[in-house]
Amino acid sequence: MTRSLASPNPKTIRRRLLGWYDRNGRALPWRYKPGSTPDPYRVWLSEIMLAQTTVATVKGYFDDFVGRWPTLEDLAAAGLDDVLHAWQGLGYYARARNLHQCARFLVAEKKGQFPNTEDGLRKLPGIGEYTAAAIAAIVFRRKTMPVEANIERVTARLYAVADPLPGGRKRIAELARGLASQTRPEDLPQAMMDLGATICRPKTADCGICPLSGECLAAKMGGAEGYPVKAPKKPRPVRHGMVFWARRGNGQVLLRKRPEKGLLGGMMEIPSTEWRDKKWNLREAAVAAPVTAAWRPLEGIVRHAFTHFHLELTVLTAEINNKEAHNSLWCLPSRFSEHALPTVMKKVAKHVTKHAAD
Ligand code: ADE
Repeated sequence: MTRSLASPNPKTIRRRLLGWYDRNGRALPWRYKPGSTPDPYRVWLSEIMLAQTTVATVKGYFDDFVGRWPTLEDLAAAGLDDVLHAWQGLGYYARARNLHQCARFLVAEKKGQFPNTEDGLRKLPGIGEYTAAAIAAIVFRRKTMPVEANIERVTARLYAVADPLPGGRKRIAELARGLASQTRPEDLPQAMMDLGATICRPKTADCGICPLSGECLAAKMGGAEGYPVKAPKKPRPVRHGMVFWARRGNGQVLLRKRPEKGLLGGMMEIPSTEWRDKKWNLREAAVAAPVTAAWRPLEGIVRHAFTHFHLELTVLTAEINNKEAHNSLWCLPSRFSEHALPTVMKKVAKHVTKHAAD
């Protein structure tokens, strides 16, 4: 006869988890000790940065941002280009634009005060379900649960949720919300995140030292790493483009600002064709070039993975005689770092340095 396993008990989970957090929680630059009053600006900034990026990467950026712009008012007064530039390397530039827009809105319209409810927070630029719940819980001590990857994983394991992601997400989030704490709503999500980052890790679950293993269905069944269950990934499509490396006599290269809306909006680029499913030939590319020139392809391909597609770029080079081009500037490659150049364009510059024969 098989015995059924007892359901995890949320009360026991909360007690054990918070006890563990008090002893083992990570000291992070945006964290507040239990009982102290958090600065909404710092929590908001950290959560926007952390939404798609690891804690290790965010630490340096966070210190840099609060060093340069210590308050919401300082950030609102900053130029968008400076903010985008400081964001370089964190990816997803729409987040930096929304961050800046949100700061300006709050200072201009709300006396620099954040709304103190999830619904109110959700209405702000760049604040989605996760970030609204995180700020509501951590700053305003609302009993809610911001469900990010760590919390999703810990919960899926605690309850051995069999529905594969992405479909299973709703059920896992519901179970996670059932773990929210009435007395320490600000600490419980952060405790789960720390547990997920240090013990209940994606590829290795250290169940032997986990404070929750007595309550965890996946651990009891001996297969924590199998959760959350994932549906097989669809392959990402490949898109193609040609990039125009236009160089003039003094070594400067043509850079152009991308349109404000869309992928990498408002960032600088080495001018390129549209990125499309079909490969480009030289004749088509010449028509799309920012200036007329004798374009010559460079050996090799620059590859970059975006969330929804893989990009393959061929680099075309030409020597230009001081021609001016619309919405563009000339810049020495050694000074590219002064501009908000996305990673894919840095790869192009590196590729040219490696392959250009001169
Ligand atoms: N990831 C997102 N928010 C976090 C936080 N407040 N602490 C640790 N990791 C996080």
